[in-house]
Amino acid sequence: MNIFKEIGALQAHLKHARCSKKTIGFVPTMGALHPGHLSLIRASKAGNSLTLCSIYVNPTQFNNPADLAKYPRTMEADVAMLEGHGCDIVFAPENEEMYKGPIQLSFDFGKLDKILEGEFRPGHFSGVALVVSKLFNIVQPDKAYFGQKDYQQFKVIARLAEELKFNTKLECEPTVREQDGLAMSSRNKRLSATERKQGLILYDCLKQTRQRLMRGEKLMTLRGEMAATCLKQGVKMEYLALADTENFSLLENVVSPEHSILLIAAYVGEIRLIDNILLEEK
Ligand code: PAJ
Repeated sequence: MNIFKEIGALQAHLKHARCSKKTIGFVPTMGALHPGHLSLIRASKAGNSLTLCSIYVNPTQFNNPADLAKYPRTMEADVAMLEGHGCDIVFAPENEEMYKGPIQLSFDFGKLDKILEGEFRPGHFSGVALVVSKLFNIVQPDKAYFGQKDYQQFKVIARLAEELKFNTKLECEPTVREQDGLAMSSRNKRLSATERKQGLILYDCLKQTRQRLMRGEKLMTLRGEMAATCLKQGVKMEYLALADTENFSLLENVVSPEHSILLIAAYVGEIRLIDNILLEEK
């Protein structure tokens, strides 16, 4: 496995690979890797001759400085995991390599980056779009792999790729969960044993809401009920929302279950967790 910290060296290596007609699959991450990330590595390996994983905790997408400071960094373990899973190339730049001066570039995706995560994390998607643009320009991958766990992020990146005409095919892979249902996340590493158990309520709320929506109950009523259930367990729900998977507009009623996704965000102690499920699993 080749590890690069510099853009120039990485690009020289990729140029060589492209000359020998190798296709490049790309998995962008912020490290603290877990089996969710590794499922993306597997998907990339299945669909490309070379797999490149980037590890970079991107400062511009953190709206909360404490969250950035406390974001888990486990580079040695990450590299070992990637090696063990047959990843070919790691790109792990320092901040100076990615950002030269004060950041003035920003993105506006209209409604898409103002609702849900965009509403509760102002500027977050602009930072994601900025770093993904840089990474796509540096790597120029044939395909790039993302997780359904961050569904709104996937929709933002799909929009970005479309608008900027990136010649990269995007894939969205299913959410990998712990055995008890908790969606895997790098932030789970920061949960105490008690919080870890409290966190299960997100997936429970999603499943209960899905079942009851399908029986004809109103989202508005269910939202209030779920927020109260969360609060009883010390979990503060930020949103429980239904969206159209095609245009990501918010819905209050189920119109077509095959195009609907239910999304939740909640604070367990200091840690903000998100999760989602499709109304009709594929
Ligand atoms: P990060 O949170 O490290 O996630 C990297 C990728 O792994 C994302 O596409 C995310 O959706 C996916 N992922 C995370 N948890 C998953 C799970 N349980 N199952 C399946 N996939 C999962 O998302 C980011 O980093 C950053 O915003 C990034 C795109 C790298 C830009 O900085």
